Amino acid sequence: MATQLFEGKGHAAVYQKYRFAPGEELQQIILSYLKEKRTNPIELVVDVGCGSGQGTRFLAEHFKKVVGADISEAQIQEARDASSRPNLSYLVCPAEELPFEDGSVDLLTSFTAVHWFDIEKFMKEVNRVVKPRGCVAISTYTVDMSLHYGNCSEKLTQIFKETRDLIFKYSHSRVKHVLEDYKEIFEALPFQDKKRITDIFDKIPMTVAGVVGYFESVSPFQAYMKNEPEAAKTLLQETEKRFLDAMGVSSRETPLEFWVRHVCILGCKGP
Ligand SMILES: C[S@@+](CC[C@H](N)C(=O)[O-])C[C@H]1O[C@@H](n2cnc3c(N)ncnc32)[C@H](O)[C@@H]1O
Repeated sequence: MATQLFEGKGHAAVYQKYRFAPGEELQQIILSYLKEKRTNPIELVVDVGCGSGQGTRFLAEHFKKVVGADISEAQIQEARDASSRPNLSYLVCPAEELPFEDGSVDLLTSFTAVHWFDIEKFMKEVNRVVKPRGCVAISTYTVDMSLHYGNCSEKLTQIFKETRDLIFKYSHSRVKHVLEDYKEIFEALPFQDKKRITDIFDKIPMTVAGVVGYFESVSPFQAYMKNEPEAAKTLLQETEKRFLDAMGVSSRETPLEFWVRHVCILGCKGP
């Protein structure tokens, strides 16, 4: 069964504002893999579960034609509003029924989304739409995250983890795929030539407001808001205050670094 979250307009707007794009290290790993595997030009790239277009926009900087696909109309509307490029388009569709011809896609990507899909049906679609010698790049960021600012990084990371643990009591069971570094998803990819990289580290420039916004954008927080709105709001306010106190600053726009570990599955379809 596919899982439909991130659908509401309010959530999509928060998502667009606060979710970060794939970092430099993850981008380079994907681009290097394609250089190694592909001799023919990449004509069509499809980014599935594209959300409000964080990863799709990066792809459009490198490839001829990029289509972002997502089940949520609100997310796709945010993606369309955020950027318009002649080689970039978006469509609303489920990952399990992609409106592309058999063997028509050179590169299929999905960033931090496959754990929400019906994995068996999605993998069948991947196998159907990807061209022979076509590639896939499926990634997620993990829960290994830390905050860095001056000499209080340890303290900030501790506060971050305490808040995350409170929010994660509302986690969906599918988050297990993230906790196990996409092992089952890797095994489900029906290609012989594949690998899973679990130690990709990116340092994302952020602000205190950005970290608090990131918490707001995660699906368990949205569930927390539905069930205990006052407690959820208070938690974010208190977390922000604790960050600012630990840093000894007053502005929520104070920059800091958000370090994140990604997992990436790379695969190339046989001839
Ligand atoms: C965590 S967000 C990731 C968005 C974006 N790729 C990113 O890197 O931030 C997951 C996205 O998957 C979409 N999604 C969930 N189930 C889906 C399905 N069955 N088919 C297509 N998209 C789906 C959601 O609407 C949401 O936009």
